[in-house]
Amino acid sequence: MRKSSLIAAAAATFAHVTHGLSLPKGRHEPRVLGLETQRRAPRNPVHRDKLRKRDTLEVGLDNEETLYFINGTVGTPPTSVRLHIDTGSSDLWVNTPASEFCTSASNPCAYAGTYSANSSSTYQYIASNFNISYVDGSGASGDYVSDTVTIGGQTIGRLQFGVGYSSTNGQGILGIGYPLNEVQVGRAGLQPYNNLPAQLVADGVIQSMAYSIWLNDLDANTGNILFGGVDTEKYIPPLMSLPVESASGVYAELMVTLTRLQLGEQIIGSPDLAIAVLLDTGSSLTYLPDPLVSDIYAAVGAVFDSDANAAYVPCSLARNASAPSLTFTFSEPSITVEMNELILDLVTASGRRPTFDNGSPACLFGIGPAGAGTYVLGDTFLRSAYVVYDLENNEIAFAPSSFNSSATRIAEIGRGRDAIPGATRVSNPVKATEGLRGRNAKKSTAVAGPGSGGMGIMIACVAFVVAVAGVVF
Ligand SMILES: *[C@@H]1O[C@H](CO)[C@@H](O)[C@H](O)[C@H]1NC(C)=O
Ligand SMILES: *[C@@H]1O[C@H](CO)[C@@H](O)[C@H](O)[C@H]1NC(C)=O
Ligand SMILES: *[C@@H]1O[C@H](CO)[C@@H](O)[C@H](O)[C@H]1NC(C)=O
Ligand SMILES: *[C@@H]1O[C@H](CO)[C@@H](O)[C@H](O)[C@H]1NC(C)=O
Ligand SMILES: *[C@@H]1O[C@H](CO)[C@@H](O)[C@H](O)[C@H]1NC(C)=O
Repeated sequence: MRKSSLIAAAAATFAHVTHGLSLPKGRHEPRVLGLETQRRAPRNPVHRDKLRKRDTLEVGLDNEETLYFINGTVGTPPTSVRLHIDTGSSDLWVNTPASEFCTSASNPCAYAGTYSANSSSTYQYIASNFNISYVDGSGASGDYVSDTVTIGGQTIGRLQFGVGYSSTNGQGILGIGYPLNEVQVGRAGLQPYNNLPAQLVADGVIQSMAYSIWLNDLDANTGNILFGGVDTEKYIPPLMSLPVESASGVYAELMVTLTRLQLGEQIIGSPDLAIAVLLDTGSSLTYLPDPLVSDIYAAVGAVFDSDANAAYVPCSLARNASAPSLTFTFSEPSITVEMNELILDLVTASGRRPTFDNGSPACLFGIGPAGAGTYVLGDTFLRSAYVVYDLENNEIAFAPSSFNSSATRIAEIGRGRDAIPGATRVSNPVKATEGLRGRNAKKSTAVAGPGSGGMGIMIACVAFVVAVAGVVF
């Protein structure tokens, strides 16, 4: 999960739409587990607004406001929690109500719910070595415990998760990446435990450690995640699969190889890229190599703000029918992201929106420079794709998203090779030559955070930095 700056206020503008996922009923019901995902609006917009004015970067550490969440319960009796869904990490953790952070005056954990171990009759203590930190410097530490967890109407009798006795996030996180990337492995040197996808398999709820995520477009507030299945009505065929990139033969992160990036007719960077990119629902923005980002900014006229490590464009670009779209190719399959999916509104709670010097409204551009950090395809990319993550076979399948599709036809993901229904394997997948790091790089606090990630682009965009002084908040 790589959070980015300045998104917080954007959420205020998102409409509230809810439509449930319907699973086929009857005797031949596939073994899948579907959950609706949702973006949320700020809890205390005025407060957030003030914070943002005081220190842009600090609020940038807390862009949880626009990330996708699901509802669940923990413990007995069940208490409700909402959890960010994060393909970029592998641990589930929740806040405890008594922590210093949660008891602070603004009551920052109340909206998302908390878990009180001693109030749960099914609580079991595991160890005190839970400690996760994300690239933005936020994190949580405390105990690993196990307890009953319910998501999408499915009860998991016993699931290991972390309890944040100390934390800096008001909302817990549901990491669904490879078990090898759990902090228990990376930090405590222990064997992996069954995280949620693995436990669903162990409990026989689904056949294989695989799931599909459909975020839907920027104007929609809900999408869904389907464990153990593919909804063939949510994408535009063909669905094509390619191998996950491994680091020294170890599969620990959901990375694939990006081989070409094209803005309209213009190829950005080399026509033969081979860079490993992390598919990360826990990141609002997309982070690419600085030179590529610099080229994109130049082509779309984006103005870079080095403090926020983000760039602005005129909001009108989202309504410009002749604006180019950005196409990402992965050996064979391509995902085209329309310009309007890359432009995020920054209307503040007080109703103000940032403007350029000439008074025209400024919007946040959905791509930032990765600097020394991991290359990440975040929500600004992922909304345009239907993505199947097959952790059992180390494969990812892509197809363009079918926006707003209300139809549903669910096929179960079975076991063994070619388990993803309807997917065609790419015949000659390119191996990444750049962007692969050692395991757990993403969670190490040593990895560049949002603040330091932009050094390269700061230099590349000196002219823009001057111009951005003219963005008025
Ligand atoms: C989660 O629960 C809240 C409060 O009950 C509800 O408003 C919201 O629609 C739910 N969202 C999802 C994705 O289930
Ligand atoms: C639970 O209660 C026990 C006994 O009172 C106490 O020692 C322990 O610290 C409590 N645990 C938590 C997580 O609050
Ligand atoms: C968690 O890890 C961070 C970074 O390694 C460290 O600074 C912190 O002291 C640890 N917290 C606990 C409670 O062990
Ligand atoms: C999807 O639905 C939303 C909300 O109704 C709408 O604003 C948006 O334009 C739709 N997207 C597409 C691609 O049709
Ligand atoms: C729309 O986009 C095109 C291509 O980027 C640009 O040449 C044109 O000036 C834009 N039009 C407006 C009204 O901004």
